[in-house]
Amino acid sequence: MKISIFGLGYVGTVSAGCLTTDGHFVIGVDLNKTKVDLINQGTSPIVEKDIGEMIAEAVKNKQLRATQDVHDAVINSDISLVCVGTPSQLNGNLDLSHVRKVCEQIGAAIKEKSAFHVVVARSTMLPGSMRSVLIPALESFSGKKAGVDFGVCNNPEFLREGTAVFDYYNPPKTVIGETDTKAGELLMQLYIKMTAPLIRTGVETAEMVKYADNTWHAVKVAFANEIGNLCKAEGVDGHKVMEIFCQDTKLNLSPYYMKPDLLLAALACQRMCAR
Ligand SMILES: NC(=O)c1ccc[n+]([C@@H]2O[C@H](COP(=O)([O-])OP(=O)(O)OC[C@H]3O[C@@H](n4cnc5c(N)ncnc54)[C@H](O)[C@@H]3O)[C@@H](O)[C@H]2O)c1
Repeated sequence: MKISIFGLGYVGTVSAGCLTTDGHFVIGVDLNKTKVDLINQGTSPIVEKDIGEMIAEAVKNKQLRATQDVHDAVINSDISLVCVGTPSQLNGNLDLSHVRKVCEQIGAAIKEKSAFHVVVARSTMLPGSMRSVLIPALESFSGKKAGVDFGVCNNPEFLREGTAVFDYYNPPKTVIGETDTKAGELLMQLYIKMTAPLIRTGVETAEMVKYADNTWHAVKVAFANEIGNLCKAEGVDGHKVMEIFCQDTKLNLSPYYMKPDLLLAALACQRMCAR
């Protein structure tokens, strides 16, 4: 497949390296000329195990090039992955200005394109951002309708820095949020070789899954540390306690107690506190 990747940072570069290794053709786009030049010289703009070799090989095989020309990238690809940064602002809000800008630019290029194009958001964004920011920017600059004239998906990224290439090929799951079936089916082709569960759902659900995942991981870290503090105060080995805790895959590390239902949750808490 021909893919354009917007944002050659961590997520964009790892995606470029892995997708070209899988046989696809990638055009990378970044505002930063140094990153564009580095890619075109066959050098990775990020440091990560295996990625240097993957980028060098892809450029040598003419499967990867980079540009600052958005129009060129959109016209010469079937699908665009948006991997630009969504940094936190001083007040804690997410800064969606890069995502909005890039969607405006992609929208303007889609206006000139007759073939069906799919735009995929891989950047992490608050639930609701797809419908309130990305889709309106794409529609207004293309003059076309999302889900009809062009496709829109979101596909949250779950990689961890330090093990990014391994994580790309061994994800816990692949989640595709889609506005229309045609777009979801095209995006699915990128993950055809993966053995992880592939879940197709609506864009709002996919956005929320990413936040639920991130929050759950934070809850786990905080919980383990709190148990560690309690164990320390009691002179108990916290590592041993958590090792035994994690062996319970029926009630502890399992779907048990994980369904939102306020009434049931209240009853369960009451019962557990009474024990
Ligand atoms: N890094 C991670 O481990 C990780 C994991 C999961 C999700 N994410 C999410 O993925 C997104 C990207 O993260 P990252 O770590 O790769 O960010 P990054 O800051 O490393 O890279 C973002 C790149 O986007 C470029 N950019 C900004 N505006 C642009 C524009 N208009 N056109 C083209 N390029 C533009 C920047 O120059 C930069 O190179 C974020 O939303 C982040 O939260 C990151």
